[in-house]
Formats: sequence, C-alpha cells, structure tokens
Amino acid sequence: PEVTLSSSDGLAIPVIGMGTMSSPPVGPEITKDAIIEAIKAGYRHFDTAFVYRTEQPLGEAIAEALRLGLVKSRDELYISSKLWCSFGEKGLILPAINMSLRNLQLDYLDMYLIHWPLKLSEEVRQMPAKKEHISPLDIKSVWEAMEECKSLGLTKGIGVSNFTCKQLEELLSTAKIPPAVNQVEMNPLWQQKKLREFCKARGIQVTAYSPLGAFNTKWGDNRILECYVLEEIAKAKGKTTAQISLRWLYEQEVSSVAKSFNKERMKQNLDIFDWSLTEEESNKISQLPQRKGITFASIFGLHDWLLQLDAED
Ligand code: A2P
Repeated sequence: PEVTLSSSDGLAIPVIGMGTMSSPPVGPEITKDAIIEAIKAGYRHFDTAFVYRTEQPLGEAIAEALRLGLVKSRDELYISSKLWCSFGEKGLILPAINMSLRNLQLDYLDMYLIHWPLKLSEEVRQMPAKKEHISPLDIKSVWEAMEECKSLGLTKGIGVSNFTCKQLEELLSTAKIPPAVNQVEMNPLWQQKKLREFCKARGIQVTAYSPLGAFNTKWGDNRILECYVLEEIAKAKGKTTAQISLRWLYEQEVSSVAKSFNKERMKQNLDIFDWSLTEEESNKISQLPQRKGITFASIFGLHDWLLQLDAED
C-alpha cells in the first residue's frame, strides 16, 4: 500500500510523486508513455505546471490509464499543477486553473500551487525576463482567488511553491484558508532546516523538488547522485544515492517529486519504505555542506531585488 503524508486540510499526499518536467523537453508522446509506465509501477502522485507544457500528456496518460483499468477511478490519483507567473493577478486565476483543467481533461485538481511568488507581465516570451517585466505578487488578492478555486471545487487543496519564510508569513497573515503545501528545492545538499521548521510549526506540508539534484537539466548536476558521503551510506546499505536522498527527505516528513522516465529508476525511487537510516547516517547527512541549486535570480534574471530575495532565506 501507498505511503502518504497528510496536509493541514486533510489531504493525503503520496510521499513519492513523479515530476513531469524534462529539460530540455522530450515531447508529449514520450512524456505520456513514461507516465503510464509510472502508473504501472505504482505511482499515484503526479506533479505538473502550466509552464512545463506537460499538462496535456499527463491528461492523456490519465485518460488512458482509466481506459486500461490501471486505476479504477480518478480519485485514486493525486494531481498537482501550478499557476504560472503571468497569471499572477486576481482576475486571471480562475481562467488559468480552468485552462489547466482542460489541458488535463480533469474536473478538479488535488493541489493547485502558486508557482513563484512573482508576477510576470504577459509580454514575457522567454527567461530570464527583463527587469520591467517582473514585479512582486500581490499575495492578498492572488490568494483570495486561489481560495475561490478551492471553494468552487476546482481544486481540493491550495498551496504555494518557492515561498520564503517571510512570504509565507505575509500570506498567513491574510489567508482565510492557509496554504497546505510549499513546494521548494530540497535535498541533502539543500536541507532548508529553517524553512522546514517554520512550515512544520504552521502545518504546511513541504514537498521537495529536485530531490535528486535535477541531474541532466540546465540547472541541475550530479552533486547528489555522486555525493561521496551519500555513496558511502548507499554502499553500506545496498541502496543507491537517489534512494538515500529520498529516504532522508521522507524521514524529515517531506514528500518529494522525483522525475524519472526510466522504468527501473522509477521503481527504485518508490522503494524506500521498508528500511531506514541509522542515527549515525542521518547525522552525517545533516553535516553535509549546503548549496542552493535554483535561485530566483537564476530563473528570472540577475536583478537586484531578486538577488536580495535569494539572500533572504
Ligand atoms: P531519468 O529520467 O533518465 O531517470 P530530480 O528529480 O531531482 O529533478 O532529478 C531528475 C534527474 O535524475 C533525471 O535526469 C533522472 O533521469 C535522474 N534520476 C531519477 N531517478 C534516478 C535514480 N534513481 N538514479 C539515477 N538518476 C536518477
């Protein structure tokens, strides 16, 4: 049976989700086939975003999985998507979630996240964006529209992604419905202890993206998969460094979205529940030198206030 963590609004989140973004992109057919393989391997949690352009292949894979009887009903799946920054304005949010739902051929999401705490103007065609096209998000009015998405039943849960403690505080001070999830970069080399503790104290479930260091993407590298300390622990336990990373996150009560389109590695990444790290192994991991992989500035541009935002948490 599947292992889940629960968020403040009572939703059960399958601990290991499948990320659907490939960078560079691999095309809809490959994505769809990989998702069907993942469902066969036991995945029930899938993470997408408007901006990834994988909502459509995910939707097709879900429809096919239902047709083939791989899952009996839609509600066996946990599907999250994200509001892109160019829709970061009160009146654009309902149309944006409806567009995601159409792409996915679904009538509700399990989780809808604000992708980044930034607003982009519509002219932005590629990243990094020009300074004049980026502005802070009006968290209060945007969150009201997110709350409306939930009350209309378009999504079961609402949350955020890439929020710092400070931004979460601002959100919590006006929210009627608190965010259930904050999805952020997290792995043994970017542990974010302060953010984890902050979220835990306020009942916000943390989900890790790039739990394996986003190897093979433009911004990722092999620093997790080839980390010496993790390799030593993996060797001693007959596991892989990827499994050590995912297990460590789970032991911190963090769920993960790990991307693999390879059948064997998909299975490997789910196989973390019938063993555990010793106290000594956990201590070694907690002492690893830390390095952030993804920054506001690296995604949106090297603008002063984005650099400041990166320095904040
Ligand atoms: P692949 O899809 O070929 O398996 P992250 O989830 O941190 O973004 O990392 C994703 C990257 O890590 C992808 O390049 C993926 O490649 C690779 N990957 C996923 N699972 C494993 C694993 N168990 N061992 C090695 N590499 C993995």
